[in-house]
Amino acid sequence: MENNENESIVREAEAAADAAEDSRALYEAKMQFLGRTGKVTSLMKRMKEIAQEMRPAFGKQVNALRERLEEMFALREAHMREREMQKKLEAERVDVTLPGRRRKEGTLHPVTRVKNELIDIFAGMGFEVFEGPEIENDYYNFTALNTPADHPARDMQDTFYVTDEFLLRTQTSAGQIRLMEKKQPPIKMLSPGRVFRSDDDATHSPMFHQMEGLVVDKGITLCDLQGMLDEFARTMFSESSRTRLRPSYFPFTEPSVEVDVSCHICGGKGCALCKGTGWIEVLGAGMVNRRVLENCGVDPDEYTGFAFGMGIERIAMLKYGINNIKLLTENDVRFLEQFQD
Ligand code: PHE
Repeated sequence: MENNENESIVREAEAAADAAEDSRALYEAKMQFLGRTGKVTSLMKRMKEIAQEMRPAFGKQVNALRERLEEMFALREAHMREREMQKKLEAERVDVTLPGRRRKEGTLHPVTRVKNELIDIFAGMGFEVFEGPEIENDYYNFTALNTPADHPARDMQDTFYVTDEFLLRTQTSAGQIRLMEKKQPPIKMLSPGRVFRSDDDATHSPMFHQMEGLVVDKGITLCDLQGMLDEFARTMFSESSRTRLRPSYFPFTEPSVEVDVSCHICGGKGCALCKGTGWIEVLGAGMVNRRVLENCGVDPDEYTGFAFGMGIERIAMLKYGINNIKLLTENDVRFLEQFQD
């Protein structure tokens, strides 16, 4: 065998090894030369065709060639493994200096916040929470509240009827009756809950929340109502908030009032929120109509009381500067996450 035949096999093997892109291809290239049917192995098989005296020299050469190739492939295999390991590490790289993913914490919905705050304020004055049913009957929602079937005041609230008798309550005032039927004065009740009216625009939603208040005892006057509402306004809106009562009408209160709170944005000077008036209407209230007390078996000559009802969404919108009530039911996280403690 010629030496240059040896050299050309080496170069051929090197070229095959160069062309191999991964360990598997490299192994296949190696087998083309050193495998059982590989080129070097078949050289060995030519031994028989060689003259006896040449055989040791030939054998030595082939062995030398085999060793060179084994060494060459071993080196390349080592490099290949190294490269593949690098690639794998690169692909699976973890940047431990990246900041961790923060778990988003839930927040209380603004309506829940205001509701809780209202409960805090009035519980501090000795009110107890009482919750009535959302599906009411006509009697509790209207008739007992001095609003019989053909009373024009029924048109003040567009009612969702379930049957002729049952309806989705339009006001938490229904709870006044339910409580007074059960309990004689002194009464200091706070009744939060969902109410329903067929009404839908930027400031009205078919479902919203109210907070009802009812106080019945001996000698309760409108002054007591305003005193408590002043305290409510100062805690809910601003230390300098004041209230103002305007005459109004509700069948279940007499006299009835609309309660305004001085604008907490401009302090009463007049701005866009209060439409230049310095006052914002926040709730309806009044002295409990003696007919309502009678309907519940409470003696109106012995006891007097006041009641108020406010929209929780409305308070939340005023407090947080929310201009569309729909934001409170869409549950967009970008909106809700702004209400962090
Ligand atoms: N129930 C009345 C409403 O929904 C509010 C109100 C409650 C008025 C209590 C007076 C007394 O409009």
